[in-house]
Amino acid sequence: MAIKKIFVVGAGQMGSGIAQTAARSGFEVAVCDQNEGLAKKAKERISSAFDKLISKEKMTRQDADATLARLQTVGSLDAAKDADLVIEAIYEDMQAKSEIWKTLSKIASPSTVFASNTSSISITQLASVTDRPANFIGMHFFNPVPVMKLLEITRGYLTSDETLTVAKETGAAMGKVPVTALDKPGFIVNRILDPMLNEAIFLLEEGVGTAEDIDNGLIYGCNHPMGPLALTDLIGLDVLLAIMEVMYNEYGDSKYRPAPLLKKMVRAGKLGRKTGEGFYKY
Ligand code: 3HC
Repeated sequence: MAIKKIFVVGAGQMGSGIAQTAARSGFEVAVCDQNEGLAKKAKERISSAFDKLISKEKMTRQDADATLARLQTVGSLDAAKDADLVIEAIYEDMQAKSEIWKTLSKIASPSTVFASNTSSISITQLASVTDRPANFIGMHFFNPVPVMKLLEITRGYLTSDETLTVAKETGAAMGKVPVTALDKPGFIVNRILDPMLNEAIFLLEEGVGTAEDIDNGLIYGCNHPMGPLALTDLIGLDVLLAIMEVMYNEYGDSKYRPAPLLKKMVRAGKLGRKTGEGFYKY
């Protein structure tokens, strides 16, 4: 099945990055949020990102205008009725995601492929609330989506070979390198990366080093492009906490226990870049 129209649910960091990358790769894209204003704001952020690329001569004005023309903003899931592929990228909450997928099952055509950008929730469980578990798959992108090359693809228990092919081909058309993972919480990357980010927060809490020391340790000692605390600020502390909680609950292993400081900071609304403060101020 050739994908032409992609409907992205959620206009946050991940949703807008997916929409930007898909539109730039030639797909017709509609990005949807609870009210259209949020989707329009995402389009404005994308337009500013294009202005920067144009100023660095990495994109032409013509290309930017054509890409923005392929990117529609909507405030209702009803607009998913003619999509070939729906990619859901809302926050990590099983109930919220399930509600959206139940609604989309009634709206979308039976042949539409459903993909979730979840980073930790079971694909099999999400697929089970839809009318098409065979057409359901995990397509997990990485932040910032336009820059990061990886696409982690996860099959649910009932995902068909055809759906896997669609996910791989669409990812490749978006310039992504696919890896496939079993449907286990955290899949591959977050299972490895997030306990490291969480451990960095334990170290900060214990006073083993300052935020700068901890980050510089990994930047200069391991050649990471940014330190774990700065990366947590980029991802969102609430996002890291949600993933750690899913892994802690599902595996029942203390190595996934969220750092108390992470919990405290999320409760205090210090979520990282998006709120202007996390481990650093922005
Ligand atoms: N659109 C298009 N291009 C963009 C862009 C955007 N929105 N944002 C940045 N870029 C481009 C810039 O133009 C620049 O391109 P150039 O090198 O050709 O000039 C390049 O990306 C780098 O951008 P910057 O110069 O602004 O910034 P840095 O060089 O400091 O790199 C970074 C920033 C790419 C974030 C880098 O620090 C990095 O790779 N950090 C690690 C990110 C990471 O690990 N992400 C994964 C997080 S885990 C995850 O997402 C999973 C989830 O489930 C939690």
